[in-house]
Amino acid sequence: MSLFIKKPLAQLMQTGDSEKGLKRTLGAGNLIALGIGAIIGAGLFVRTAAAAGEAAGPAVVISFIVAAVGCAFAGLCYAEFASMIPVAGSAYTYAYVTMGEFIAWIIGWALVLEYALAAATVSIAWSEYLNNLLGGTIPYQWCHSPMEQSVDGVSGIINLPALLILLILTLILIKGTKESAMVNAIIVFVKVSIVLIFIALGWQFINPDNYTPFLIPENAPGHEAFNRHGWGGVLGGSAIVFFAFIGFDAVSTAAQEAKNPKRDMPIGILGSLIVCTLLYILFSRVLTGIANWEEFKTVGKEASVAYAIQHYMPGYGWLATLISVAILAGFSSVILVMLMGQSRVFYSMANDGLIPKVFAEVHPKFRTPYKSNMILFVFVGLFAAFVPGKVAGDLTSIGTLFAFVMVCAGVWVMRRKNPEAVRPFTTPLVPLVPILGILICSAMIFSLPQETLLAAGGWMILGLVIYFSYSRGNSNLRKLQ
Ligand code: ALA
Repeated sequence: MSLFIKKPLAQLMQTGDSEKGLKRTLGAGNLIALGIGAIIGAGLFVRTAAAAGEAAGPAVVISFIVAAVGCAFAGLCYAEFASMIPVAGSAYTYAYVTMGEFIAWIIGWALVLEYALAAATVSIAWSEYLNNLLGGTIPYQWCHSPMEQSVDGVSGIINLPALLILLILTLILIKGTKESAMVNAIIVFVKVSIVLIFIALGWQFINPDNYTPFLIPENAPGHEAFNRHGWGGVLGGSAIVFFAFIGFDAVSTAAQEAKNPKRDMPIGILGSLIVCTLLYILFSRVLTGIANWEEFKTVGKEASVAYAIQHYMPGYGWLATLISVAILAGFSSVILVMLMGQSRVFYSMANDGLIPKVFAEVHPKFRTPYKSNMILFVFVGLFAAFVPGKVAGDLTSIGTLFAFVMVCAGVWVMRRKNPEAVRPFTTPLVPLVPILGILICSAMIFSLPQETLLAAGGWMILGLVIYFSYSRGNSNLRKLQ
């Protein structure tokens, strides 16, 4: 039987209406909040400085624009699918319908890199800001991975705060989607307020000298590689800050819990993307205006926003503390949505028989996939405890970019193969928009470090082994044929 066996659209829609499955509790406002909850996090508060210091300098603001354009094209494609196939599973499910089981499996497997590792990356950043807030009192070895070493030569052992926050959020998730959405809405309010306050107050402390040179010069030491200076550096920076946009697609994983998915999915996806892009452009402009980009390579590397305030905004020490608290809360909502997204992708894959049934078992009272959440805690926890944030972050970006490329391709394929299907939201200018999405996202993939590409390749090979040894034989769709 063909590797590319496809799920019929009608069958999917029935799953979506199942009485026994997940509860439909989320409206448009909840979905935008869910998106912003997942989007603003470590990408903005940690990786903006990293991208400025490593690759783009003050031009990191343009890196944000490049990444946003790539995401906008992909977002338009996601919106078409999410309104058309409003069931849990996101890109994985869309691929099952358009490109068949094998490609769907590959995407589902890549999405693990996205959601699970994003949760790990942000929990590592959470630990960094917690330590900053506590005045650096957590001993280095207990809040860093064994692959990291401090400037004084102390080696990390395990990242305990990262594990702790993952555990707390897993328990909240098990309790229920509605509760999680409410906690998320409160956090989003705090998070957006703090970003706005930083922009408004920080504006007065901008030192225009920090903007020249705008691009990192070719002869800057340590910046020889093509994606580490000049316009190449802007592209390299966009691959780094791309992490900051990850999450708008997580809205689509909650489609099965949306009250009116056909109308609200596009609003949730595109609305959250627009709000965040505006905030990012302003925020990065202010941050690189307050402190010089070169400091983000050294002293200002960890907890960079608090660093910039403490050093360049005299009298605003309180803001540094407040911002750290808000960032901790903000990171929590990102982790929450990522863990939720991952468990929903697993839910769909398990219902299809591609991974064991345990991932689709719903709690009798809370109606959440609780066993899946617990298994996920162990998996994500291992990364959070033992892997450095940068490694986990780059792997997250590659998994996501890959899924974006496939979703863009999927919209195009679906338009050709299934032109008559009802599309409450249509992506404009197909195939131009999907093609541009594919090109920009692919360019970002190839601007990531070589080791990341290799590690992601290894992950995909493992996925193929599992597909051919387990999933293919257990696929429900095949059993029905
Ligand atoms: N976009 C999310 C963040 O920046 C993953 O933390």
